[in-house]
Amino acid sequence: MIPRIYIPGDSGALALGAEKVAKAVRAELAERGIEAKIVRNGSRGAYFLEPMVEVATANGRVAYGPVKPSDVKSLFDCGFLTGGHHKRWLGAPDKIPFLARQTRLTFARCGVTDPLSLDHYKAHGGLKGLQNAVAMTPAEVVKQVTESGLRGRGGAGFPTGIKWKTVLDTSADRKYIVCNADEGDSGTFADRMIMEGDPFVLIEGMAIAGIATGATKGFIYIRSEYPHAVAVMQKAVEIARKAGVLGVNVLGSANSFDMEVRVGAGAYVCGEETALLDSLEGKRGQVRAKPPLPAHKGLFGKPTVINNVISLASVPVIMDKGAAFYKDFGMGRSRGTIPIQIAGNVKYPGLCEAAFGMTLGEIVDDIGGGTATGRPVKAVQVGGPLGAYFPRALFDTPFDYEAFAAKDGLIGHAGIVVFDDSADMLKQARFAMEFCAIESCGKCTPCRIGSTRGVEVLDRLSQNVEPEKQIALVTDLCNTMKFGSLCALGGFTPYPVMSALNHFPDDFRPTPVAEAAE
Ligand SMILES: Cc1cc2nc3c(=O)[nH]c(=O)nc-3n(C[C@H](O)[C@H](O)[C@H](O)COP(=O)(O)O)c2cc1C
Ligand code: SF4
Repeated sequence: MIPRIYIPGDSGALALGAEKVAKAVRAELAERGIEAKIVRNGSRGAYFLEPMVEVATANGRVAYGPVKPSDVKSLFDCGFLTGGHHKRWLGAPDKIPFLARQTRLTFARCGVTDPLSLDHYKAHGGLKGLQNAVAMTPAEVVKQVTESGLRGRGGAGFPTGIKWKTVLDTSADRKYIVCNADEGDSGTFADRMIMEGDPFVLIEGMAIAGIATGATKGFIYIRSEYPHAVAVMQKAVEIARKAGVLGVNVLGSANSFDMEVRVGAGAYVCGEETALLDSLEGKRGQVRAKPPLPAHKGLFGKPTVINNVISLASVPVIMDKGAAFYKDFGMGRSRGTIPIQIAGNVKYPGLCEAAFGMTLGEIVDDIGGGTATGRPVKAVQVGGPLGAYFPRALFDTPFDYEAFAAKDGLIGHAGIVVFDDSADMLKQARFAMEFCAIESCGKCTPCRIGSTRGVEVLDRLSQNVEPEKQIALVTDLCNTMKFGSLCALGGFTPYPVMSALNHFPDDFRPTPVAEAAE
C-alpha cells in the first residue's frame, strides 16, 4: 500500500505555512523516488501545532507538528512515513492532550478525512442521518431535532426544532433553508473549519432540514473573507449533486433538495438573519423589523429556516445516533456539545468541542493553558464583539446559555478571546462603541447615533473630563441602546461596555494629569 500523508489545506494551517510544507514534502518524495498520496485534510483545530502533518501507519495515524519546511528532510531521514521518532513527533493525534479531552460529535471527521471524498465521508459514518431522515415523515424528523435539545449555535440559542416546526407548519409553494456562514464574531472559526474540513456534514444537515420542513432549495451565505471555504463548499455541492445526495431524488427518495453557495459582501450586520436575507436578495444588508419572522416570511417572502453552520452540521449525528444520544451530553437546557473557539492572548489557541458545562476557568487555564505572554489573565471576552468581558472572579461560570445570561454575559457563537493584565478595559469599551458605530446598519437611532455618542463620552472619560458625569452618561446611554435598539448589534453593545466598567472600574478612572506627570 502506498503511504498516505495528511497535510491540512485548512486556511488556518495555510496561514501557518502548510502550503510550503506540502511543497517541501512533494519535492522530497520526488527526490527520494517514493510514491505516496498526499491528502489535504482539514485541521483538527489544535492551531498551536499547525501545520500538523500526519501519516497513516499500520498502527494508526501518527502526527508531527508544528512542521516547518526545514524539518521535512529530517522527517524523511527519521522514517516518518512509518511513524519514526523526530523532534516534531506528537504520536497518535487523538492522544494529544488538547484533543484527547474533547467530545467530538459535530467535528468527528474534521481533520480526519479527505474533505472532498464522499467515500471517505461515508466510511466514517456520513449520510446515515440523511438515510434515516428520508425514511421518516417530516414531523418525525422535526420531533427528533426538537427532542435532542439542539439550540442555535449562531448566538441566540433558539431551539432549532421549534424553528423547523414553524416552517413545516407554514404552507407555501416554496420554502428555503438558509445557512448562515457569515461568521463575523471575533475569535470564531468553527464554521470555517467545518466547511473546509468536512463540507458534506453541512450539506447533509441542510438536506435533512429541507426534508423536515418541505423546503426544496438551500443557500449557504459565506463571508467573502473565506475564499477557501467557498471553494471547498462549491466543489462539495457539485460532488453531492452528482452522487444523488442533492437533486430531485435525494438518496433515491421522493424528496427533492438542492443548494447553492452565495458569497457575502463583508458587513458584520449581514450575519443578522434578516439583514442576511436582504443581502441574499441582492439588496443592501439592512435589518428587517420582526414580525414577520423569517420562518413565516423569509427569503423572497417565503417561509425560511435560517440556521448557523454548526446548528445544521450538528443535525446529522442527531439523526444518526438519535435524539437521546445527543441530549445525554450537556447541562440544564444546554444540550449536546459546543465547539468552543479559544483565541487571543492564549498559549494553546484552537477549537475544543466539549459537552456544555465546562467552566470558563477550565477552558482558559487548563485547555487554553493561560496567556501566550505568560502574564496573568485579566479578562476573557465571550461571545464575540457583543459579548461581555469576564474577570477571573467569574471563571467558575459553567459554559451554559442560562449560566452566562445570569452573569450578564452570553455564549454567542462560543468564541472566547483572552486578554492579559496589560489590557486597558476603557480602550476595549471604546472599541465596542466604535465597532458598533462602524458596523451599524443605520436603521434605528439608539444604535446609529448612540454608538457615536458612546465613543465621544468614553473619549472624554479617557481625557479625565468630569469622569463621574461621563460614567453616568455612558450607563444611561447603554440602557437606551439595550432596550431601544431594533437588533442585537445595538442592543448588545452595552454588554462589553458595561461589563468592562463594572468588573474593571479602576481602568475607568484615569490617573489625574498632575499625578501622571510626577
Ligand atoms: C449583528 C449580528 C450579527 C450576527 N452574525 C451572525 C453570524 O455571523 N453567524 C450566525 O450564525 N449568526 C449570526 N447572528 C445571529 C443570527 O441573527 C441568527 O440568530 C442565527 O443565524 C440563527 O441561526 P441559529 O438559530 O442556528 O443560531 C448575528 C446576529 C446579529 C444581531
Ligand atoms: S441596532 Fe443597529 S444594526 Fe440593528 S437595526 Fe438598529 S441600526 Fe441596524
